[in-house]
Parts: sequence; C-alpha cells; structure tokens
Amino acid sequence: MKLIRTKNYQEMSKEAARFINKRVHANPALTLGLATGGTPIQTYENLAKDYQQNETSYQQITTFNLDEYIGLPETDPNSYHFYMQKHLFSKINIPNEQTFIPNGQSDNLAEECIAYEDLIKKHGGIDLQILGLGHNGHIGFNEPGTSFEQRTHIVKLAESTINANARFFDTMQEVPKKAITMGISTIMESKEILLLVTGKEKYNALTKLLHGEIDPSFPASILNEHNNLTVIATEDAIISNK
Ligand code: F6R
Repeated sequence: MKLIRTKNYQEMSKEAARFINKRVHANPALTLGLATGGTPIQTYENLAKDYQQNETSYQQITTFNLDEYIGLPETDPNSYHFYMQKHLFSKINIPNEQTFIPNGQSDNLAEECIAYEDLIKKHGGIDLQILGLGHNGHIGFNEPGTSFEQRTHIVKLAESTINANARFFDTMQEVPKKAITMGISTIMESKEILLLVTGKEKYNALTKLLHGEIDPSFPASILNEHNNLTVIATEDAIISNK
C-alpha cells in the first residue's frame, strides 16, 4: 500500500484528480471504477476543470460505478445515476453509452447483478477503481460481515449507513434501505485501487484499515491484500488530535 498524506480536503481532491488524470493519459481507453458519496465530489470537480482547461479526452474511457440504491428512479436527485451526471458525466466528453451504473430499478435484480459482472468482464475488468471508506469499513455497499468472495449483489444497508445517508433526504422513510453493489471480490479484481479518505470522522475507520486485522467484520481490511493500492488521505484522518 502507498499512503499519500494531504493537508486537507482540497489537497486530497487535487492529488486524487492528478492521479486519475495520469492514468487516463497513460491509457486513453481506461476502464475506470467510480464511487459516489461526499468524498470524491471535489475530485470530480477537478477532473471537470482539467477537461475544460486541457481537454483531457474521455472519448474512449468506460466507467463502472460501484453501486446504486434500489427503488430510486434515475431522475431522483439522490440516485447515483443523477449524482454521476451532475458531478462528472455532463462535464466531460464521455459518451453516455460507455458509463455503467447498476440498475436499481430492474424487475429482475438477481439477473442485473449477473449482467453487471458480465459487462465488467467483457470490458477486460476494471483498470482503476476509486473507493471511499464507510465509517463501519464498508467499501461499495459491502457492509460488515460480507464475504470477501462476494460478487455484485443486493444488500440491506446497515443501520449506520442508513443514518449516514439520511442527511441527503427530507425524511427517514425516503432513505433507501437496499442497494445493489459490486462485491468485494469484484472490487479486489481491479488492477489498481485508489482509496480516498477525508476528515477526522474517518480517523477510526482508517486506523482500523491501516493497523487492524484482515477480517470480514471490517470489509475494507481486505484492501491490505491488494498489490496495487494507493490511499490518499487527509492529515486529520491519519493522525488523531482529539
Ligand atoms: C459510494 C460508496 C460508499 C462510499 C462510502 C463513503 O459509491 O460506495 O462506499 O464511498 O459510504 O461515503 P462518503 O464519501 O460520503 O463518506
């Protein structure tokens, strides 16, 4: 693992965008795995800015998102389809048909999971997967206790995840309770992984990842076994100053 320490969220986001940019330049037909959530928003903003200034092309890039809520239409501002359009896809020149996000509205979710896996395989696997870190160690929506062997699947979100997501919704009832997510095995097969961690609220989770045991009760711990993992984290996520 390579750990890059940054001063604050702005620096982490600059560093992350530079990192992704380099990979896109090195391989203009890169298959990129994407995360949503609060952490990568400014990274995506920086990629969009770079696109405007330097015309880095995404014409041949393919993307696969980690996850999507079940039951939210793509037009719902809280869906990850909406998020990706808003924060990245509408701002760069990636063809829409090269952007894949699990379909949480499918009539046959089990089939959707298999089809998503097949699609990733058909594209030769993910070259670079971006991840955020859940407070409870989840990656994608693989909650504590998920088998490391798991592939794309349907999950019941943990109480703590539902509570963390509640900030984006008006009422608790609206917060989705289920999602479709790439599995841990799918994520681990990515050729390279970039994990972004920001803020002192993530200190406990990052400490567990860096110094804890590899155990399904803390899903992100498996990342220690990946042979090409970079973590870009803010100082306050690495060092406690309680
Ligand atoms: C998002 C995802 C989640 C988040 C994690 C951290 O696609 O898969 O695992 O990366 O919940 O979320 P934030 O960045 O909001 O702290």
